[in-house]
Amino acid sequence: MRKLLADLRAATGPAHVLAEPDVVAGYATDWTRRYAGTASCVVSPGSTSEVADVIRACAAHGTPVIPQGGNTGLVGGSVPAPGPAWPAPVILSARRLTGLEPVDVASGQVTAGAGTTIAQLHGHAAAAGFRYGVDLASRDSATVGGTIATNAGGIHTIRYGPTRSQLAGITAVLADGSVISNLSGLTAGSAGYDLAQLLTGSEGTLAVITQARLRLRDPEPAAAVLLAGTAGIAQAADLLARIRAAVPGLLAAEYVDAAGLALVREAAGLPAPLPTAYQGYLLAELTRTDPAGDADIYLQRLALAALPPDTAIAQDAGGMAALWAYRERLTEAIATAGIPHKIDVAVPASELDAFCAGLREVVRAAGPGPDGPARLIVFGHIGVGNLHVNVIGPDLADTEVDAAVARLAAAHGGSAAAEHGVGRAKTGWLGWTRSAAEIAAMRSVKAALDPAGLFNPGVLLPPPDPAASPG
Ligand code: FAD
Ligand code: MLT
Ligand code: ZN
Repeated sequence: MRKLLADLRAATGPAHVLAEPDVVAGYATDWTRRYAGTASCVVSPGSTSEVADVIRACAAHGTPVIPQGGNTGLVGGSVPAPGPAWPAPVILSARRLTGLEPVDVASGQVTAGAGTTIAQLHGHAAAAGFRYGVDLASRDSATVGGTIATNAGGIHTIRYGPTRSQLAGITAVLADGSVISNLSGLTAGSAGYDLAQLLTGSEGTLAVITQARLRLRDPEPAAAVLLAGTAGIAQAADLLARIRAAVPGLLAAEYVDAAGLALVREAAGLPAPLPTAYQGYLLAELTRTDPAGDADIYLQRLALAALPPDTAIAQDAGGMAALWAYRERLTEAIATAGIPHKIDVAVPASELDAFCAGLREVVRAAGPGPDGPARLIVFGHIGVGNLHVNVIGPDLADTEVDAAVARLAAAHGGSAAAEHGVGRAKTGWLGWTRSAAEIAAMRSVKAALDPAGLFNPGVLLPPPDPAASPG
């Protein structure tokens, strides 16, 4: 351990290797507080070459590496597993990799260090007259590297796609310390495998991302935000379909159920958004696809969507932010009510209603928690069929309710893992969403790029089945 620390200090400078147990424990516990493990230290390299030195040192000592960005991940992928203090993994924090180059106005692209936060990237893009296409409530901490590693979605996926759609190139350090880099941003280039896309969604299991070349979008000023009450998720989906047909430029379409709205109001002290309470709420943001055009035209077109009569509509910045608060502050509100079983799934639009009905059965079957009946809160990015199921109450060590929700999503033709990734939480469920051949191919990629299993052991891929015959 002493020799490893000395080698890491030599790589980054002593100030950037933290080994005090209390400090390390903070990095080794995830945002939800559900996942926590043991790490020997935290090392924060300040450049790609320092990352390479750190990787080589860890490889020489046979010490696994957990890449970490803002530590806002929700599936346990950014923290180590519980275990003995030695030989415990090293957490490689990418937070010092913050270089942000000037926006290349001609290509509409920017090169950003992996430790740049999404909020910093938004500010930088806006100052140059652009927008970055991924946005999420964790923007002040979530990093470019972490969002690439998870292929993060967020509130604008419906318009710009997930992080994968923004990526034009990458620099990363492989398990042998070699550096792969292609930041030219050229869209015309089909010379071999697309390594940037391979690393997107790899959750720190294949390489440490140190820089990314990102596509930016033209800014589209907001035209309006609306919040409509509905009789449930099916009616919210129907209303969304009508809005989509009536108005161009849908930037966001989010759903919050009645339990979620009540909780966020209670935790954040928010007033009722509408005169009447509903079973579900649809929040939509419209952009002005013609920035010079009249914002009111969008409202006139909205009339074609037959909005419910007491829909709240805001067109000024303060009013729009006030409506967004019911959705944006929900994850934090849930955290104040307890550590949830948090299951992020995707379900086809036609199955949303049946899935939600099944959910209520699943939660009933899970039984009460120590403080009373289990609480179910459902919300998410309804425009892309991505729902966040939160269950508060059942023992956190018992993963049966998590698995039952994921199985239900798969049974409805959906995915057991959507935008948050697989992490440590969902490795056992990968086979419900990906075929045996696909998982075998993923294992081959992992074995080729990281034969010693240095990066993020126990994340993404399930442990090999010992009963399976060799070869
Ligand atoms: P971390 O949590 O540090 O790491 C996540 C994973 O990426 C880990 O497996 C880690 O090993 C790997 N990783 C991190 N950095 C690197 C790197 N440089 N190289 C290689 N691997 C790396 N997610 C969404 O998709 N959409 C949302 O709308 C959304 N909203 C959220 C709201 C809140 C309030 C919170 C707390 C979380 C939310 N998340 C959301 C989850 C989370 O913010 C995302 O998963 C985000 O992409 C994680 O980024 P991070 O920098 O915090 O990564
Ligand atoms: C969100 O959309 O707010 C997030 O993905 C976070 C969550 O699931 O709680
Ligand atoms: Zn989300």
